[in-house]
Amino acid sequence: MDEGWWPKPYKIKVVEPIRLPPRPEREKLLANAGYNLFYLQSSDVYIDLLTDSGTGAMSQAQWAALMEGDEAYAGSRSFELFQEAVQEITGYPYVLPTHQGRAAEHVFFSVTVCAGHKVPSNAHFDTTRANLLALGAHPVDLPVPEGLDPELAHPFKGNMDVEALAKLFQKESSRIPLVMLTITNNTLAGQPVSLANIRAVAKMAHAHGVPLILDAARHAENAFFIREREPRQEGRAPAEIAREVFSLADGCLMSAKKDGLGNIGGFIAVRDQDLYERCAERLILWEGFPTYGGLAGRDLAALAVGLREALDLDYLRDRVGQVRWLAEKLREIGVPVYWPPGGHAVYVDALRFLPHIPRDQFPGQALVCALYLEGGVRAVEVGSGMLGEEAKLELVRLALPRRVYTTEHLEHVVRTFAQLREKREQIRGLRLIAGTGPLRHFRARFQPV
Ligand code: F0G
Repeated sequence: MDEGWWPKPYKIKVVEPIRLPPRPEREKLLANAGYNLFYLQSSDVYIDLLTDSGTGAMSQAQWAALMEGDEAYAGSRSFELFQEAVQEITGYPYVLPTHQGRAAEHVFFSVTVCAGHKVPSNAHFDTTRANLLALGAHPVDLPVPEGLDPELAHPFKGNMDVEALAKLFQKESSRIPLVMLTITNNTLAGQPVSLANIRAVAKMAHAHGVPLILDAARHAENAFFIREREPRQEGRAPAEIAREVFSLADGCLMSAKKDGLGNIGGFIAVRDQDLYERCAERLILWEGFPTYGGLAGRDLAALAVGLREALDLDYLRDRVGQVRWLAEKLREIGVPVYWPPGGHAVYVDALRFLPHIPRDQFPGQALVCALYLEGGVRAVEVGSGMLGEEAKLELVRLALPRRVYTTEHLEHVVRTFAQLREKREQIRGLRLIAGTGPLRHFRARFQPV
């Protein structure tokens, strides 16, 4: 068989009907949603690429595990299975489940970060930033300059700028409680971070006596990229690479709705017992007893299976390959996509697709609306709408749910873009009429200008 072509490593057992509402209906629905697609009903969306978070399809092994969920308040067997899986994958001995990633951030930062602190990262995700800001701390994004060029070929555009980190330590050493790395780098087009970069960042953090904490939401996809792109990593099992990545850091926060292949869930895992104890106290206050932490026993049971499945090489090859396929097809028809594509999503450069729309009229959000109107496709803006003045690029993210859509579905997305390309001059910018704060994009409302 051709080495570059692999059919999906699964077949479909359960189906969920979807429907494309007629265009006049879509126009009405969009206006009623205030041109913010978070306000649409999912039943009115044909192809939903809003997020890859919690939207994946579970395997039969996960569904089977779910039936064996132990719903005990304390000492649940499902927690044991979950803990074993996290310990095996990360090597960290102390594990606390949370209901999702941002809850892990909330609990963890509440015991590690104070007002006035600066927390560097390659780039913080929006909830991570917002959780830090809520504590009066300053999230500091230090991406490598290569990451900010949507065209430049570079294998690890998600890396942190180690020199910039050194400068920050020189100036602010006493105000830095920890260093973070988001793998893969979601706000920066889902780009991977190399082992070498993780090693260098860990070394610097440790030289200053602070821990390195990974935001590991998509650590399995990151491991796959390391295998594909980093010298001497070819041929290693993704699980082995992941284990090495975790070994360089001191702990992680994870939204298990991504590379845990769960519909809900997250966790904190750390090496330090004292840190664990302090987190556990807050966990009981906000999430629940440490053996369930805001999840049902069945969720924990399904995650124990999903966390391991996400590191399967055939699965990852299909997963990252599907994202790449979509990016290549879009590029072939002249859509400016961030290159190379990341692990979970294709990011379209809205500024170049709609050069007639100025940045203060939200070109990304305008494109998101146009995609829905044209083809019932739901995407999300990652630009000034989401990040305000922090936005370095105006991107539209097409996030692929795991194991959900077929090539035919993605062909519809490509066709939708092809049709839009022909009439892009007619797409109008937007004015923000409601929504404030770092999470305004979830609830914002717009009007066409
Ligand atoms: N960290 C990263 C890198 C994320 O991408 C997310 C969520 C979180 C933390 C928070 O996790 O949603 O479980 O509370 N990202 C989703 C997305 C929402 O669409 O990218 P959560």
